[in-house]
Amino acid sequence: MDQFVIKGGNPLVGEVEISGAKNAALGILPAAIMANESVIIDNLPDVQDINVMLQAIEGIGAKVDRMGPHKVKINGATINCFDVEYEYIKKIRGSYYLLGALLGKYNYAKVALPGGCDIGARPIDLHIKGFRQLGAQVDITGGDVCAKAEELIGSTIYLDKASVGATINIMMAATMAKGKTVIENSAKEPHVVDVANFLNSMGASIRGAGTDIIRVEGVEKLHGTEYSVIPDQIEAGTFMCAAAATKGDVTIKNVIPKHLESISAKLCEMGCEIEEFDDALRVVSSKPLKSTQVATLYYPGFPTDMQPQISAVLALANGTSVVTESIFENRFRYADELNRMGANIKVESNVAIITGVSKYTGARVNAPDLRAGAALVIAGLAADGFTTVDDIKYIQRGYENFEQKLMGLGALIEKVSDDKEIQKFKLKVS
Ligand code: UD1
Repeated sequence: MDQFVIKGGNPLVGEVEISGAKNAALGILPAAIMANESVIIDNLPDVQDINVMLQAIEGIGAKVDRMGPHKVKINGATINCFDVEYEYIKKIRGSYYLLGALLGKYNYAKVALPGGCDIGARPIDLHIKGFRQLGAQVDITGGDVCAKAEELIGSTIYLDKASVGATINIMMAATMAKGKTVIENSAKEPHVVDVANFLNSMGASIRGAGTDIIRVEGVEKLHGTEYSVIPDQIEAGTFMCAAAATKGDVTIKNVIPKHLESISAKLCEMGCEIEEFDDALRVVSSKPLKSTQVATLYYPGFPTDMQPQISAVLALANGTSVVTESIFENRFRYADELNRMGANIKVESNVAIITGVSKYTGARVNAPDLRAGAALVIAGLAADGFTTVDDIKYIQRGYENFEQKLMGLGALIEKVSDDKEIQKFKLKVS
């Protein structure tokens, strides 16, 4: 099994190029099958989740032509199957977008759900509520969600929570519905706006994405387009935190600085200097880090997907920080791992109390999920000595060439697969 081995202590210095946004692409790829013409999508991140989504799209009969690692041509005219196989949906959660795309285009979709507690922790009741309000009959049987309709008819749908997934899914289903749909209390995240812009470039009529009311005027059909995915806000934020934790000086290129404002604001409060350019940011961490308070919130609030990474930096700040997780309940699973590296984090319910320490010490740790894994890498980069991060399959789902990008900034990190390779790395860098 792949692992990262890291020799910490080097400040990250230099420039790094950010890839396309995984979570935007996970909505855009299913939306692409709604046209019966060729759609070209560029700036795709070359990560596991995207490759799995493309396999799922191919699996239902769409034509998928990989034009390069970041570019794909998709044609949905040949789709001949509306059931998405179980093995795909189990691998990535974003497959639920195939439900909205297929229902919107063919008035029928059947998609398997991940089992048991996964549903409990991340329900899709709001997606289902929206489909039903558009006139679909939705049943869950044998672990599958089956949605069907004679025709979809526009409606006003109020989301009890501003869910990103439900907003995108309902928006897709409504794109070719009869009449007008209004989604109230919609999510405002940058990837919601990107999926809406993409659908509009295919001829959809969606207004208000990025505000809390989205209006969709149904159109008869969608056409081909060429589109470039926005840069990944969370990948950029992760490199910002890595620069902060290692006392580095990193210019992060191919970003939309506006999407990073909440992260920039927190790093500034902690004593970092941030310089903004049109499509780049420079983070300089030259002063002692100060503690602060962070609460995750819907956009433009601080993103829950950045909570583990900023906590890894706060663990090195002078004083006591309080981090409140308001979106997901179980997102502090990295705290014990950071504590094994010398951090002082106490978790009570959805709050982490972080008392800053002067340094991390390298240890063998386990990545419990994608963003938590990234937080452990950040800690390893700042730590004295060697850190081994196990289970990096989670990290590879969402970060393109993570270790190469970090090496480009001077980090001593390598992907290895056994103890022998770890020893070799240690000899090489000692
Ligand atoms: C998406 C992102 C994920 C990010 C999250 C919040 C993708 C593929 N994933 O996940 O990385 O952490 O947004 O920014 O884009 N909820 C319900 N019922 C529903 C749907 C959601 O109660 O039907 C709740 C969730 O439990 C959670 C909140 O709403 O508390 C927000 O979840 P949501 O925005 O839907 O997250 P995802 O779309 O799953």
